[in-house]
Amino acid sequence: MSRTVPVPHGLPVERDAGPFDPPRRITELRESRPVSPLIFPDGHEGWLVTGYDEVRRLMADTRFSSRQDIGPLHMPYEMPGMPPVTEPSPQEPGLFIGMDPPDHTRLRRMLTGAFTVKRMKMLEEHINDIAERQLDEMARLTPPVDLMKEFALPVPSLVICELLGVPYADRKTFQANSTKFLEKDISLDEKIAAFTGLTTYLSELVTSKRAAPEEDILSDLARNDDLSIEELTGIGFLLLIAGHETTANMLGLGTFALLEHPRRLAELRADPELLPEAVEELLRHLSVVDILYRYATEDIELGGETIGKGSTVLVSLLAANRDPRRFDDPGTLDVHRSARGQLAFGHGVHQCLGQQLARIEMRAGFAGLLRRFPTLELAIPAREVKLKTNMNIYGVHALPVTWTGSAS
Ligand code: HEM
Repeated sequence: MSRTVPVPHGLPVERDAGPFDPPRRITELRESRPVSPLIFPDGHEGWLVTGYDEVRRLMADTRFSSRQDIGPLHMPYEMPGMPPVTEPSPQEPGLFIGMDPPDHTRLRRMLTGAFTVKRMKMLEEHINDIAERQLDEMARLTPPVDLMKEFALPVPSLVICELLGVPYADRKTFQANSTKFLEKDISLDEKIAAFTGLTTYLSELVTSKRAAPEEDILSDLARNDDLSIEELTGIGFLLLIAGHETTANMLGLGTFALLEHPRRLAELRADPELLPEAVEELLRHLSVVDILYRYATEDIELGGETIGKGSTVLVSLLAANRDPRRFDDPGTLDVHRSARGQLAFGHGVHQCLGQQLARIEMRAGFAGLLRRFPTLELAIPAREVKLKTNMNIYGVHALPVTWTGSAS
C-alpha cells in the first residue's frame, strides 16, 4: 500500500467532489492509507479511519473508548479554547453515547424495550398519519417552500416529541439550542450555553414527570428511582437531539439526492415497493452522521498500523460506506441494490438505538412526499443549495422546492 499521500492537517470537510460524495482527500486516503495519521489544528497527532473493514473492526472493539463523543466539552481539538485530551473525558450523566460498558450497558438496557422492532412496527400507522398531516400543510402553501422547514424537520420532531412526552409547542426553545449545539465553528462558551439551555429545559420537564408520570418514554424512565434527575435529563437530551436532527437531515438531503437523480426517482415512483431498499441505499450513500470520535485506551493494531494508547481516533462512516472493497460501484445511488451491511447507523455496542424508528419515518416521509408531489423540483440551481459542512450532522440548511398544479 502506498504511503505517498501526505498526512492531512485538520479533517477535510469541503465537499469538493459534489454535495453527496466524500471530500476528495478522504477518498484518496481510504485508497492509500485507510488507517491514517491526522494532525489536528492544534498540532496534536491523531488518526483517521476510512476503510470499511477497518471502521467496522474498530467500532466492534471496546478498547476504543466512546468517552469523547458528545457533551459540551468533548469534541476534542475542534473548538478554539479546547484543552488537549490526555485521557478519556469525564462522563456526562445520562449521555450514554459517550460512555463505555458497563456504564453504557446499564443505561442502554433501560431503553432497548422502548425501541424494539415490534414496538416501532406498532407505531407505523401513526407515523404515516403524522407525515400525511405535515404534507397536507405543505400542500396548502404556495410554492416555492423550504422543504426542511415545512416537512423534513417537523416530521421527526413531532414523532420524537410525542414518544418522549416533550411538548411540541416548546420546539422553538429546544430546536434553536440543539442546532447551535451541533454547530462546529462556535466557541466553547456558546456550545456550553446551548447545552445548558437544553438541559435546564429538560431537567424541569423530567422533574415534573417524576412527580406526575404520563404515558411516554421519559415518564416510564422517571418511574425508575435508580435514575437520578441528572441522568434522566441526559437521556432526554440524547434522545431528543439524536431523534430529530438525524432523520430530518436524511429526509432533506435524501430528497435533494433523489431530485438530482431523476432516473432513480422515476424508478421509485413507478414501484414504491422499492422504498425499503431505497432507504437503506440512501442511508449508505449519504451517511449524514459521518464522523465519530473514539479514544484508544491501549496500543491497538488496526489495518497494519499501531494506534498508540491515548490517541484520538476519527472514523468516517461515509468513507467506509463508499469503500469499493465492500460495495460495487459505491459512488452510484442505486435503489435496486441491497445496501445491507451499510454502516450509517454505526456498529457495535453503540449502534443506533433509534434505527427502526428512523427507517419507519423515512419510509413514511419519502412515500408520502413522492406520491403527493409528483412534480416536485428544486426551486434554485443545485449548486446554490447550502450544505451543512459546519455541522456535526451533514445535510442541507434549507431546500427550496416547488411544484406545479395542486398537490393531492
Ligand atoms: C447512535 C445514526 C436516528 C437515537 C447512533 C450512531 C449513529 C447514528 C451513527 C452511533 C454513534 C456512535 O457509535 O458513537 C443515526 C442516523 C439516524 C438516526 C443516521 C437517522 C437516519 C436516530 C433516532 C433516534 C436515535 C430517530 C431516536 C431516539 C440514537 C441513540 C444513540 C444513537 C440514543 C446512542 C446509542 C448508544 O450509544 O448506545 N445513531 N441515528 N437515532 N442513535 Fe441514532
